[in-house]
Amino acid sequence: MTNTNFPNTRMRRMRHDEWSRRLMRENRLTTDDLIWPIFVLEGSNQREAVQSMPGVWRQSIDLWLKDLQEAVNLGIPAVALFPVVPVEKKNEEATEAMNPDNLMCRAARAIKEAYPELGLIGDVALDPYTSHGQDGLVVDGYVVNDPTIDVLEKQSVVQAQAGFDVIAPSDMMDGRIGRIRAALDDAGFETKTRIMAYSAKYASAFYGPFRDAVGSKSSLGKSDKRTYQMDPANTDEAIREVAMDLAEGADMVMVKPGMPYLDIVRRVKDEFGCPTYAYQVSGEYAMLKGAAENGWLDGDASMMEALLAFKRAGADGILTYFALEAARLLKSQS
Ligand code: PBG
Repeated sequence: MTNTNFPNTRMRRMRHDEWSRRLMRENRLTTDDLIWPIFVLEGSNQREAVQSMPGVWRQSIDLWLKDLQEAVNLGIPAVALFPVVPVEKKNEEATEAMNPDNLMCRAARAIKEAYPELGLIGDVALDPYTSHGQDGLVVDGYVVNDPTIDVLEKQSVVQAQAGFDVIAPSDMMDGRIGRIRAALDDAGFETKTRIMAYSAKYASAFYGPFRDAVGSKSSLGKSDKRTYQMDPANTDEAIREVAMDLAEGADMVMVKPGMPYLDIVRRVKDEFGCPTYAYQVSGEYAMLKGAAENGWLDGDASMMEALLAFKRAGADGILTYFALEAARLLKSQS
């Protein structure tokens, strides 16, 4: 006798075969979703491993020119550059940030010349250049907002002139997007240079390995960035940050870190429907890599699942240190 009350809907029927699982799959990760953050060193033929990020290297421009060929061949749309600035070039005023011949600008010119089709994203913030490691200028122990923006404007313009396609302010000063937009427009970059705003950037413990990689950890010492980066407890504040950055002219907005903040990604995408990006930061990479290297996680599977989760949360793209590895894997599966 059939029990008519027994569920006539069985969710497992569609999961029975790979073809029907494929048919109902809602989200997909492709190489088009990947942005690769890379660390650039001074000098030539310099290459150093980042201890706290297994599989990540920092290297000089000449070596990047060779390595980026594979990223271009795989179809990674863009790379995000971060400079490792020698201590002797750091000071209280972050003057090196405004130098049109600084490491970032030299790297951009060289990369653009070699790979004109590769999108180039330039981080804008003062932490690589300040002796204290804060993202802005410090007066009486406080990171001052408006004087910092004067420097960020100049930093943005020299980066745009060097060939960066996207200016990505990660500093979290108030009002900087509008001021940077105006400075770029005045310098003739109104149609060409996009702004990716680190809009909802949290004061996170997950940035630790990055600060090792760019060498800002020792400068920062025991101080933190809580007077400008957001409190991890907050959601509404993220929405207000994004709304302001969009009103000020941001073309793309970002949520950072990534996986612990997928709720923010979803809410931003739902409320604004704008190009939305997530940054899977250094600490997230280190956790997954560390576990995989110890045999505690399947490295490839956990990497792909984590990246897919960003798509499911509504991200249009992901800044990830896994970009090259994931693109290789996607290619081998296609
Ligand atoms: C600094 C900056 C940070 C990251 C990107 N830009 C660190 C910080 O705010 O201290 C972190 C990226 C990562 O952890 O992968 N403006």
